[in-house]
Amino acid sequence: MHKVHIDHRDSLVKERMSKIKNKILVMSNKGGVGKSSVSVMLARALSEKGFKVCLLDSDIHGPSLAKMTGIEGLTHESPDENTIKPIEKGGLKIVSMGSIVKDTDKALIWRGPIKITVIKQLLADFDWGEADYMIVDLPPGTGDEPLSICQLMGEIKGAVIVTTGQKISLLDVSKALDFLEKLNIKVLSVAENMSEIICPHCGKSSPLFHSKEDLSIKLKGINLIKIPFDPEIMQKLDEGDFENIFSGKDVLKKNILSLVEVK
Ligand SMILES: Nc1ncnc2c1ncn2[C@@H]1O[C@H](COP(=O)(O)OP(=O)(O)OP(=O)(O)O)[C@@H](O)[C@H]1O
Ligand SMILES: [Mg+2]
Repeated sequence: MHKVHIDHRDSLVKERMSKIKNKILVMSNKGGVGKSSVSVMLARALSEKGFKVCLLDSDIHGPSLAKMTGIEGLTHESPDENTIKPIEKGGLKIVSMGSIVKDTDKALIWRGPIKITVIKQLLADFDWGEADYMIVDLPPGTGDEPLSICQLMGEIKGAVIVTTGQKISLLDVSKALDFLEKLNIKVLSVAENMSEIICPHCGKSSPLFHSKEDLSIKLKGINLIKIPFDPEIMQKLDEGDFENIFSGKDVLKKNILSLVEVK
């Protein structure tokens, strides 16, 4: 990355983040529940609404977002030594470790302080420009990276918690709620992902997880949005074809937008 002295980064982060109207975190305490998928869908749905949207993959160890958006292997332009441009695709400005580090099959072994510096660089060194929304795909859990993002970004509009209907994932929602409460970040909604499966043949839905826990009781007034498991979504994200994710799926798009209270 470029040569801005590390001490200048804090003010650079402030300056860059001040140009972004709504910063939204997508988080979960458990891995593999669909954070990255929801982040991509949310960013794309907002962009289709006409908003200027940035999408940041802050999961520096498992940067799947680069694959889902098809930007792996693309090169970030750098017009001068102080600026790197996010990759622009499908109406989004995207940055992911998967686009920065070329050999994405190699595991990155970084300790806490380095990780925080890397996250600072993602926020400071990239020319995010003016935007209506920045969607931040957080790594699972409530460790160093989510904490530093929350502390660095300035005012955050709120967070979307992603979960599945399994008991173990529902328990983790409470931990995520606790984390956000401690940091004084508003919970915009909880996405119950893969709540049901849509049959690729007949289009009918069936429940996927049979948890006896009732998420709505636990959430006490927080907006709960169900997102079905849809094999077409998985295929499109596997192929990096997010631009067409909502074709023929108006209900899905509406539900995704309601996660951030956009109609
Ligand atoms: N609603 C859905 N319908 C179909 N497939 C989905 C859906 N949500 C997620 N998937 C698929 O499930 C897999 C895991 O999702 P994803 O990578 O978004 O989870 P994650 O929470 O970001 O995982 P990690 O904790 O590893 O970052 C992906 O292959 C994705 O395409
Ligand atoms: Mg992910």
